[in-house]
Amino acid sequence: MAVVRRLGSAAIRSRKGGRFPVVTAYDAPFARCAEAAGIDVLLVGDSVGMVVLGYDATVPVELSDMCRHASAVARGARHAHLIVDMPFGSYEPSDADAVRAAVALVKSGAGSVKLEGGAAMAPRIAAIVNAGIPVVAHLGVLPQTAAIGSGFKRKTDRAALIADAHAIAAAGAYAVVLEMVDEQCAADITESLAIPTIGIGSGASCDGQVLVLHDVLGLYPDAPSFARRYAELATAATEALRAYGDDVRAGSFPPPAPRSVSALNAHG
Ligand code: KIV
Repeated sequence: MAVVRRLGSAAIRSRKGGRFPVVTAYDAPFARCAEAAGIDVLLVGDSVGMVVLGYDATVPVELSDMCRHASAVARGARHAHLIVDMPFGSYEPSDADAVRAAVALVKSGAGSVKLEGGAAMAPRIAAIVNAGIPVVAHLGVLPQTAAIGSGFKRKTDRAALIADAHAIAAAGAYAVVLEMVDEQCAADITESLAIPTIGIGSGASCDGQVLVLHDVLGLYPDAPSFARRYAELATAATEALRAYGDDVRAGSFPPPAPRSVSALNAHG
């Protein structure tokens, strides 16, 4: 069996100071598209709950959902590095729970795992890293807890953000997502950390940028204002499906079977 060589976390770690794109992926076909487009870092985000599964938050997403989608992405993209989100509830209770959940994600294809939170999550990050699994941290707006306390507003508390960034880096995270962090704070964090920052709605100074696939492709109606649409696939899909439906109703699909010569002779 051919060995699949994937980009490792060390290669991503070494992109500090560069500019690299990351996009979310949830299934094999779009993972294939992203890889063919030259994007070699894919995030199997728990945003799957909203953009694919139809929930209005990431909270209901289960570990089994993430494993299922991670393995689909791993089958579609053979060389990209897969960062897989640890869903809400899978890592908060204890270090042992966190390691167990991270192991399940790695068995499903994750090259590294991502969890939300700052200094309070440093022990979880250290436990997972000590189990040999690379970790990406996530600071700023934390979607898993935004509705129950951490809030959806852009984060501007520079001192707290920098303290959190240094805590997660000291715990062993090899990169950090900064979601909706004040642009100057994100620039300062990027400058002061040795690991790459991956921004979403946090300005141009981050080392990498990540967007949600369905926002990029125009497949999700509630995209945030900072996202840029590069296609209108929902419109294209609706038009294609309308054309198919019209053809069936009009009798032009399937096309009439060609009548054979002998059939023509017999009945024509
Ligand atoms: O789940 C996700 O898509 C994410 C991005 C918003 C960074 O965590």
